[in-house]
Amino acid sequence: MDRAGQYRDLKLEIDAVVAGESYLPARYATAASLLAQACSPRFFWTGFYIVDPLNPSELVVGPYQGTLGCLRIPIGKGVCGACAEQKRSLIVPDVHVFPGHIACDSRTNSEIVVPVFDAAGALAAVLDIDSEQTDAFDDVDRSGLEAICSTLLTV
Ligand code: SME
Repeated sequence: MDRAGQYRDLKLEIDAVVAGESYLPARYATAASLLAQACSPRFFWTGFYIVDPLNPSELVVGPYQGTLGCLRIPIGKGVCGACAEQKRSLIVPDVHVFPGHIACDSRTNSEIVVPVFDAAGALAAVLDIDSEQTDAFDDVDRSGLEAICSTLLTV
């Protein structure tokens, strides 16, 4: 199966597992686990940074799979903060040339970050996926992950 088909199946699986579950950390954790397992070893770190309800100028780490991630990222800083500020997906083929990249693990060489919106259309979180490979992500990843994130908080 091609990667687009794999993403379609993953979305169906994630939606099915979280159906009826309203506790958001359970929904985020399910998506992080299924994505990380399905896309290992290309996905080295897979998880969510959530807009802090007590301090909306910061992202705070949520459910993830991988090595230790930094706990907080100011909106506008690093790839995750830039995605949150611009409210659009970002693909970074080489993190070493991205201005302000936050290196939680020096093995990361490329990354994709996708925004997650709530039912009202407000930014709730970002999905951050890092790879040890350079240039690991493309538009197939972007559209597959955007589809998964588009219903993560609403279905
Ligand atoms: N590299 C990210 C920070 C988060 S971690 O890699 C887990 C960034 O620049 O936003």
